[in-house]
Amino acid sequence: MSKPILAFDIYGTLINVHGVVEQLQNMVGDQATLFSQTWRDKQLEYTFRRGLMQNYANFAICTRDALEYACQLLKQDLSTQQKQQLLDTYRTLPAFDDVEPTLQALKDSGIAMFGFSNGSADAVETLLQHAGIHDYFDGIVSVDDMKSFKPNPGVYSHFLRQAKAQLESQGDGQATHVGGQNAWLISSNSFDVIGAISAGMRAAWVKRSPDAVFDPWGIEPTAQIHNLTELKKALEQTL
Ligand code: LAC
Repeated sequence: MSKPILAFDIYGTLINVHGVVEQLQNMVGDQATLFSQTWRDKQLEYTFRRGLMQNYANFAICTRDALEYACQLLKQDLSTQQKQQLLDTYRTLPAFDDVEPTLQALKDSGIAMFGFSNGSADAVETLLQHAGIHDYFDGIVSVDDMKSFKPNPGVYSHFLRQAKAQLESQGDGQATHVGGQNAWLISSNSFDVIGAISAGMRAAWVKRSPDAVFDPWGIEPTAQIHNLTELKKALEQTL
């Protein structure tokens, strides 16, 4: 079997969306963790709802609106400047510690890797550059091209088409192998894993927290790992 082609989810999988907590502590004190979680949950809800309503606004707008919601729900009267500081931080959130060694090991094995995100391509480029991991990737695929969000099956098909086209344009022989059974989504977001599998891809679920629950829909991830350092082995065992 030929090598897998990997689609890494970005927010929550490679990049720590709760990297704002420290900054939030200075603004909302003890509510920082709750605030960050509320912001993230609402951000995703807004993507789901905008997808269903076919009323697309990009991920940065969903993030901005969700921040406003979190402020109102938790009765935190942040200034315009504070909100802007948080949104600026969101563009330069940190990568998890296990990301770079994993990307290096996979790159050494000649595995093609893409960032695949709800975020716009330029936001993802900025994040990956800032985290110093941009050059490990063969390309970035954003749902923004489709004016929809995960888990619309169309965005996973879009990933397959784009990954193939980008590898072809780089003269990479792996391009001929891009297809559902070779293409893996790697994500800590269970809705994303279920979306990818439903769209015919394989998918590894990164259970980053012991408390994380995989949605009990009767659809299982192809592989389950606790952190990215386990990924290479999990791929080898499944291929
Ligand atoms: C992403 C969202 C799911 O990066 O976090 O696509």
